[in-house]
Amino acid sequence: MDTRISNARLLELTGQVAVVTGGAMGIGQAIALRLAEAGAAVVIGDLDEAASGQTVGLIAERGGKAAAVRADMSRVAEIEALMAEAESRFGRLDMLVNNAGVFPFAPALSLTEAQWDRVLAINLKGAFFAAQAAAKRMIGAGHGGRIVNIASIDALHPTGALAHYDASKGGVVMLTRALALEFASSHIAVNAIAPGAVSTPGAAAAGAAAQAAMRAAGPSAGPSAGPDEAATFTARIPLARAGEPDEIATVALFLLSPAASYMTGSLLVVDGGYLLS
Ligand SMILES: NC(=O)c1ccc[n+]([C@@H]2O[C@H](COP(=O)([O-])OP(=O)(O)OC[C@H]3O[C@@H](n4cnc5c(N)ncnc54)[C@H](O)[C@@H]3O)[C@@H](O)[C@H]2O)c1
Repeated sequence: MDTRISNARLLELTGQVAVVTGGAMGIGQAIALRLAEAGAAVVIGDLDEAASGQTVGLIAERGGKAAAVRADMSRVAEIEALMAEAESRFGRLDMLVNNAGVFPFAPALSLTEAQWDRVLAINLKGAFFAAQAAAKRMIGAGHGGRIVNIASIDALHPTGALAHYDASKGGVVMLTRALALEFASSHIAVNAIAPGAVSTPGAAAAGAAAQAAMRAAGPSAGPSAGPDEAATFTARIPLARAGEPDEIATVALFLLSPAASYMTGSLLVVDGGYLLS
């Protein structure tokens, strides 16, 4: 089979349509910008309508095509409505990036049922039902597609005080492999990225919330995560800095592009070497 494509077209996505969940800011926004630059029409599914609108505006300013749909990725009905809207707006659906995710600091001994359910619902249940809804459309249209799930290095190595998050991201990695196997015959590739520390609004808020919680808990809070944890974490990164959202987005673009035509079920770690240390 001749799959050779010229270098100039390796990252070309013109004519394709992508849904990026959590695409209003952070890693999702960077992915939306890269996909639009590659020629795809991008539909952002996010809870934050104002930030989604700004990202759509940024894409339009740069000559790209984008739309925003308010969607809570923990609700299957809203996921279904997001996919339906993407398809009706741009006529097809080729790519899904399951990026929406939350990572609230919660030491295991005080983690509540509500916290557990929220994190698992957004990060894992949402990713599954979004993949299911997207795959049904791709298969129905008979053209296959690509799915990229944003996992985390926490799927492979616990950071501390994030048991619910770590479990959800471990689930995302196995979900990626399970769906890659089931969808391969329908020409839908499913891959995942495990980012390390990335400078995003969510990461800044999570760090501040963790520090406030540890200050409030005092010395009884235990050793799992303290005020200096962010600095300790960064000091452990061999490349000696946090990543930028675009450094995850370029890898997502690769996985969604013709350059990754023989990849499915893979997990790409993008962590500045953190897991080596
Ligand atoms: N930033 C990091 O260091 C890091 C590291 C590893 C993995 N990740 C993963 O990358 C993804 C993006 O993280 P980020 O740091 O860019 O986060 P962020 O908080 O900066 O942005 C997340 C976006 O998701 C949206 N969102 C949150 N809950 C939602 C819901 N229920 N439905 C729809 N949208 C929702 C938010 O409105 C926001 O626009 C997450 O899955 C996260 O777990 C991040």
